Amino acid sequence: MAAPLHTAWFNGSFMPLAEVRISPLDRAFLFGDAVYEVIPVHAGQAFLLDPHLDRLERSLRELGIRNPCRRAEWIDIINGLIEQNGGGNLAVYLQVSRGADIKRDHAFPPESVRPTVFGMVSTMAEPHPDQLGLRAITCADQRWSRCDIKSTALLANLLARQAAREAGAGEAILLRDGYLTEGSASSVIIVEGGALIRRPAGPELLPGTTTDAVFAAAAGVGLACRDEMISEQRLRQADEIWIAAATRGITPVLELDGKMIGDGRPGPVWRQVAAAFEALKPHGTAH
Ligand SMILES: Cc1ncc(COP(=O)(O)O)c(C=O)c1O
Repeated sequence: MAAPLHTAWFNGSFMPLAEVRISPLDRAFLFGDAVYEVIPVHAGQAFLLDPHLDRLERSLRELGIRNPCRRAEWIDIINGLIEQNGGGNLAVYLQVSRGADIKRDHAFPPESVRPTVFGMVSTMAEPHPDQLGLRAITCADQRWSRCDIKSTALLANLLARQAAREAGAGEAILLRDGYLTEGSASSVIIVEGGALIRRPAGPELLPGTTTDAVFAAAAGVGLACRDEMISEQRLRQADEIWIAAATRGITPVLELDGKMIGDGRPGPVWRQVAAAFEALKPHGTAH
């Protein structure tokens, strides 16, 4: 995400981001006891809003954090953040922690402790068509066994992303027990013989909102889409590899661990699906 913009949401009000103050006893700070969502905004309109809010509600439920807002309230917060930050192409970040108790205790605080709700917005740059595609490296997936929850406890993801940066790559693709899981902050799709393949949903990976929309777009133009386990060898032999994420759309991986994928340029299936996916996004004058 790019630099955050001015207006944030904090526990019930919009306020300048620089004025938000969070207690050091907040459980997000002490334990990473919080969940988050990143919602893309195109031309001033939230994209794939329902799947993002479904996932936020699920993450809260799975961790037993009280959902502090009804669906309509979440939508008002998101739309308020978009409006107050000038619309256009943005990424809305929402975070809910279990709140700040009066002492540090691993066990959950009493019901009287209210969740902390924080929202902010960043600009989202559309990649220049000539700069499409990235280099990726593979890394061992060192995360916990509930990666289906979008938790702010992201240390293993950070280590993988930093390893990618140090290798001059834009993403780390994670392997667990010889199989692909996902990227450090993205879903991974491979193309084999014209078909799109991704790992089946499960506790080892986050269910991606972008990858679901990409599969729907690809099915809409007649391409086969399958959920299958992808071994390391299969990953390395794929015709195309893409990463998918709310703030990055679908991006082709041109090189994996220093080895070219296909001819090292965005592939033909990517071109076709990227166009179909682009057509799903809200368009209009970005204000
Ligand atoms: C670990 C991980 N997997 C997958 C994704 C893709 O999810 P989405 O398409 O909903 O952004 C993300 C999003 O940033 C992520 O952090």
